[in-house]
Amino acid sequence: MATRRDSILREMGLAPLWRLRQRPALAEDAVTADGNAIETPADSTPAVPGDAQGDARARRIAAMDWGTLATTVAGCRDCRLCEQRKQAVFGVGDVAADWLFVGEGPGAEEDERGEPFVGQAGKLLDAMLAAIGLRRGRKVYIANVVKCRPPGNRTPQADETAACFPYLQRQIELIAPKLIVALGKPAAETLLGTEVRVGASRGRLFDCRGIPLVVTYHPAYLLRNLPDKAKAWEDLCFARRVMKELDGADGQ
Ligand code: URA
Repeated sequence: MATRRDSILREMGLAPLWRLRQRPALAEDAVTADGNAIETPADSTPAVPGDAQGDARARRIAAMDWGTLATTVAGCRDCRLCEQRKQAVFGVGDVAADWLFVGEGPGAEEDERGEPFVGQAGKLLDAMLAAIGLRRGRKVYIANVVKCRPPGNRTPQADETAACFPYLQRQIELIAPKLIVALGKPAAETLLGTEVRVGASRGRLFDCRGIPLVVTYHPAYLLRNLPDKAKAWEDLCFARRVMKELDGADGQ
């Protein structure tokens, strides 16, 4: 049965709601011709070997409260990224946020300071937030796919992402944001559990386990590709429009 939120999204021209039955090769394959469908990958959990130990660990994490989760992440030694980190970077912001921004993983400054997006990319992210009337910590939470810095700022490997994903999943459940903004390809692919091309996913609304999700460029990418900043601005305006409609749906 259509929910109130579904109806609002339909009114925004984001219909027809499209729920995938099969995991697609590429997220964009799952989009209707109008490019405005909401898409739900069938299985948004990254592929992890289904061993009983891993399952039990995921179940333990899924039952944690916020404090236990934060302490567990701080002491986590479940993948190789713990070996060179200075500290795990749990996330920052309002634990009852409407907006959740998800990046890839901490860099050198984040590793040093224990807070996500505090380096150059973070300054740009703060400016992007300000451009749509948001501020770090005010109805906004910022997290990463992996909580420990990948050496040399390399992209996290699949097993590292898989080991860390239950933490992000639990953060999402506890925060219960109204909207998730995936910053860049690794974040989008982890959250949607499928291959994603950022360029082809912009301006589309995805469904991350019942929570609307939009995809945009990672701020570090934008620092290297200045002309794409205008596209990121468009994406944020789209996200703000979606949020406005969702707020309207809540208020009625
Ligand atoms: N890039 C990210 O993806 N996350 C950070 O916290 C910093 C840079």
